[in-house]
Amino acid sequence: MAEVRLVDIEKKYGSFLAVPQQSLTIEDGEFLVLLGPSGCGKTTTMRMIAGLEDITAGDIQIAGERVNDKPPKDRDIAMVFQNYGLYPHMTVRQNIEYPLKLRKVNKAERARRVQDTADKVELGTLLDRRPSELSGGQRQRVALARAIVRTPKIFLMDEPLSNLDAKLRVTMRAELKHLHHELGVTTVYVTHDQMEAMTLADRVAVMREGRIVQLDTPKRIYSDPADLFVAGFIGSPSMNLIDGAVQDGRFIAEGMDLPVSLPDRDEVVFGIRPEDLELADGDTPIKGRLYALELTGESTLVTMRAGKTSVCARGHADFEAPINAPCHLAPKTGARFYLFDRATGQRLDG
Ligand SMILES: Nc1ncnc2c1ncn2[C@@H]1O[C@H](COP(=O)(O)OP(=O)(O)OP(=O)(O)O)[C@@H](O)[C@H]1O
Ligand SMILES: [Mg+2]
Repeated sequence: MAEVRLVDIEKKYGSFLAVPQQSLTIEDGEFLVLLGPSGCGKTTTMRMIAGLEDITAGDIQIAGERVNDKPPKDRDIAMVFQNYGLYPHMTVRQNIEYPLKLRKVNKAERARRVQDTADKVELGTLLDRRPSELSGGQRQRVALARAIVRTPKIFLMDEPLSNLDAKLRVTMRAELKHLHHELGVTTVYVTHDQMEAMTLADRVAVMREGRIVQLDTPKRIYSDPADLFVAGFIGSPSMNLIDGAVQDGRFIAEGMDLPVSLPDRDEVVFGIRPEDLELADGDTPIKGRLYALELTGESTLVTMRAGKTSVCARGHADFEAPINAPCHLAPKTGARFYLFDRATGQRLDG
């Protein structure tokens, strides 16, 4: 097990700055998720930790040792690549077995661990096939099995579940969570799926354009987003973000009129989560017409429109009303709302 420290690391591809100077400490045994949109530098960060990508500046330390000049094979890391990285000429069994062979584990032990791991990722019956004879999701599971077949100092996982169907993704998520509990190996996990990040992580690093914009527990990322970007990125459906202005202690937008504690100001974005709103009667602070109803199973998503303002609320599963009917929403008791500067995205409240 090991702590990973990134100290002022930077990555340039030619003149393009993919990751500007940043520092991050991943604690011993921690499950850290790098979350962010496509192209924000998640894979680049992982590859720098693995030693597959040189760093342009800074230091990388693993278990207190500076590893800048250490080749990947000497860093005791197991990695799942975004594009699988399987050996095409080897069978599934040989692919999974390979890291054990490299480390001279004896044959009987290898056979046992390969079978065990293959069963965990539901590949037990495909051991004699080659990667070219597998579906994308099956290949991804081979890559995952090859990483978890032994216990390294660090796991690096780059979207290891992205090609699995929804049901298997949830099963594998639980499998990974259990594995982490059993082994306690320091893990850096990349995803752009905020649900995966929230459910797996001890801490989430939300990235944007190469920078970490917030590093926090899932709970705090959800309840106390650092800025407009994080607020809009976390949560499903995402937070309602409504353009308006503050006048005389009230947030005003088309169809909305709510008390807020902020001095007068234009170009304000008001944020409230769908789960913090409820359908109500009479003179509510949010009014418009019903635009869409979506039944999700456990609840119904109610979208209301008033001019340019669109607001989504999570209502009861049995809620029904005709589209275009008047729609009244109110914040639930204890609901949290957020205020942002529209230009900079900075929080204006609390
Ligand atoms: N070898 C390379 N040469 C030049 N630019 C690169 C190279 N690899 C990545 N980049 C650029 O660096 C930035 C970060 O890429 P990276 O692959 O780390 O993103 P990512 O967050 O993993 O995205 P995704 O979610 O799509 O996998 C992107 O703008 C990308 O175009
Ligand atoms: Mg990537």
